[in-house]
Amino acid sequence: MRLDKFVCKSTELTKVQAIQLIRDGALVVNGAVTISETTQVHENNIVTLHGRPLTARSFRYLLMYKPLNTICSNVDEFYPSIFNLLSIDNGSELHVAGRLDADTTGLVLITDDGRWSFNIIRPSRQCEKVYRVGLSRPIAKDVADKFLQGVQLQGESQLTLPAKLEVVHENEVLLTLQEGKFHQVKRMFSAVGNRVVSLHRERIGNITLDVPVGEWRYLSASEVSLFV
Ligand code: URA
Repeated sequence: MRLDKFVCKSTELTKVQAIQLIRDGALVVNGAVTISETTQVHENNIVTLHGRPLTARSFRYLLMYKPLNTICSNVDEFYPSIFNLLSIDNGSELHVAGRLDADTTGLVLITDDGRWSFNIIRPSRQCEKVYRVGLSRPIAKDVADKFLQGVQLQGESQLTLPAKLEVVHENEVLLTLQEGKFHQVKRMFSAVGNRVVSLHRERIGNITLDVPVGEWRYLSASEVSLFV
């Protein structure tokens, strides 16, 4: 990770303070003064600040049951941020791996490990996301087949990847995606002449919701390892 991030993760300093100290020559990496905040440091590097060795805190991984009318960014906008629900130090360092819309509820995974969240998001990892979808009209018979073949969404150059549709009853389905384009579920149903009236994410990979709405817990080591 970058040296400024390493300093932030191993002290109570802000990014601005960390960069200033680095530029002032207070940081030594493997015996050499390092004045560039973009220098990459690794676990086995010895980093000192004013001669004191630093050890980065380990990454954090958690799940939350996102309530209706909340947003996944770190700051409140029209709706409050889900990060208000986290009673945790340095919550602003965290981000959601695969955001949900304000009117979508359900499972979100939260971390400060960018590489881990990329594994959840990038389609080539084929990490399944399962959505329970309420529809304004009864589901047409040919939609499961269309979603399996891929549909053309407006503004996209490629068809959607094969997606599995299971009918719960005529106005409710489960949809399994391996990608997460902007508003993808809503746009897919719009492309087949239907409209999403409720949307809830039930599962990401093998992880399902087991906390009440608005609550969160840390992931176990074996849950974290699913996306390493
Ligand atoms: N697809 C959507 O349209 N919205 C979400 O929140 C998630 C997936």
